[in-house]
Amino acid sequence: MAKDLINIAILGSTGSIGTQALEIIKFFPEKFNVLALANNSNPEIIEQIELFKPKYVSTKSKINTDSLSVNIATIDEICSNKEIDLIVAGISGIESASSIFTSVQHGKDILLASKEAIVIAGEIIINESKKSGSKILPIDSEPSAIWQCINGEVSSPKKIIITASGGAFRDSGWLDLSSVTPQQALNHPTWKMGNKITIDSATLMNKAFEVIESKILFDMDYKNIDVSIHKQSIVHSMVQFDDGVIKAQLGDTNMGNPIQYALFYPERIKNSNLGDIDGADLGNLTFEKLHPGKYPCFDTALHYAKKGGSYLSILCGADEAAVQLFLEGKIKYTDIYIIIYEALKEHKKMANPNFHDLIGLARETYSKIISKYKN
Ligand SMILES: NC(=O)c1ccc[n+]([C@@H]2O[C@H](COP(=O)([O-])OP(=O)(O)OC[C@H]3O[C@@H](n4cnc5c(N)ncnc54)[C@H](OP(=O)(O)O)[C@@H]3O)[C@@H](O)[C@H]2O)c1
Repeated sequence: MAKDLINIAILGSTGSIGTQALEIIKFFPEKFNVLALANNSNPEIIEQIELFKPKYVSTKSKINTDSLSVNIATIDEICSNKEIDLIVAGISGIESASSIFTSVQHGKDILLASKEAIVIAGEIIINESKKSGSKILPIDSEPSAIWQCINGEVSSPKKIIITASGGAFRDSGWLDLSSVTPQQALNHPTWKMGNKITIDSATLMNKAFEVIESKILFDMDYKNIDVSIHKQSIVHSMVQFDDGVIKAQLGDTNMGNPIQYALFYPERIKNSNLGDIDGADLGNLTFEKLHPGKYPCFDTALHYAKKGGSYLSILCGADEAAVQLFLEGKIKYTDIYIIIYEALKEHKKMANPNFHDLIGLARETYSKIISKYKN
């Protein structure tokens, strides 16, 4: 990036990714200017506007544009704005996809957290980025780890090994979980994240999304992507080369490291706010193969992901609806799997869908499931 001051838009600014990105950016005011903030409706965006003084804001929250001296814009207007150099994509769920598509169409570089967008329409988004010159830099910790292991290598990896904490119920069998509460499921053993991704981590749907995301971002076959349960969440992922050597990336469980790595890529910059790990005192690190059947959402997601195309829209739409219904207390935890499985089983693959077909299908699947459980 040649320019001295980089103009950034933070999408999902009030979420876990958005707030952590702002914490890093705040540390480097000579390098980054927050030109735009976008969220859904959380009023905490007002404090962010006061602190970062963005020129543009997209929010449903009520704000006084005169006293805050800010312009209201749509997310699409922000993503296509010529003044913006870099987009932090931290909106959760299927609604992240359109903003990412618009951003790549307009050649913006993207710090990518919102994995659902890549699951729904990854190939289309990647093709569009190749046309526009937009760079997609992963900040999800596992794809970032893979990226960091590959960087500097001239040989392609033969295998990717994605690590998984195993989520809130890693020591239980699926059939024992029918009466668990949202509070129990939200109690992630190692990471502090938004609600949807935390439930997706418990079911391991999040890991299925990362396998799909890694296939697309790193152009790997599914057969060359493994998942290993690593309870300590210190090794964020590994890559194996043809000579048998494995490279791993290790770090603290905070998103600051991958966010800062992508912001300054290829440089590594000192930031005293980021935690160091003590390499000489890591204790026991354990790795276990994933047992088929223990996480039915993971198995089913990958079974249908291999069929590809519109199945991935159904997967994301159904997962988002099922997670929301569970959090609202309308279904049991184990029903999450049943809802997703039934939606995928009923679907007939769409021929040659474009981006709008795929996002439309994800939204329709989500709405149909939510309205079925309305009362
Ligand atoms: N958190 C992590 O550590 C982590 C790690 C890796 C990947 N990710 C991925 O990053 C994404 C965000 O996760 P998160 O944990 O940060 O989620 P989160 O804490 O729930 O935050 C979501 C953000 O998106 C905004 N948002 C939701 N729907 C929106 C809409 N329709 N239009 C505009 N803004 C909208 C929310 O605004 P309001 O606050 O107004 O609701 C909030 O700012 C997900 O795709 C997740 O899988 C997260």
